[in-house]
Amino acid sequence: MRDAAASRRVRALLGIGMCFLLAACGPEAPSLAPLGSPADLAGADPGRGRRLIGDYGCVACHTVPGVSGPGSAVGPPLKNMALRAYIGGVLPNTPANLVRWLLDPAAVDPLTAMPDMGMSDEEAKNIAAYLLTLR
Ligand code: HEC
Repeated sequence: MRDAAASRRVRALLGIGMCFLLAACGPEAPSLAPLGSPADLAGADPGRGRRLIGDYGCVACHTVPGVSGPGSAVGPPLKNMALRAYIGGVLPNTPANLVRWLLDPAAVDPLTAMPDMGMSDEEAKNIAAYLLTLR
């Protein structure tokens, strides 16, 4: 019986410990994703990026919040792009890496189905800045 009482005490202590742990992991806890922001891309214009996404026809393959399109599911939806941990499942999602992906996806992942869209560095920066507003 002493063992049962002891194990109840241990369980109670564990329970209290879990409460503290959960409290520490409240809504203020940092996300696992390396959160980038449009401000990390000096001089980039998210509004221009949004228009470029329409001009380049990215919506032929992606659904993109704020850009109208046919609702294609060829590529992943680009909602929450600012919250993703990885780009294309392989490249850590930082603002610079997002630009790198947009400029040449196959250089990042030779097996990717996303084509090189032939955009300029400046266009890629603007598009990345818009994508980083999507949370
Ligand atoms: C022909 C179809 C196609 C077009 C057009 C296209 N993409 Fe993609 N895109 C894909 C596919 C497929 C993937 C998934 C690639 C992978 O995981 O390897 C992808 C992945 C991405 C990713 C990474 C998403 C993630 O969840 O990790 C981004 C960002 C992206 N595309 C942006 C764009 C933008 C911006 C444009 C327009 C300039 C564009 N794409 C045009 C097919 C396309």
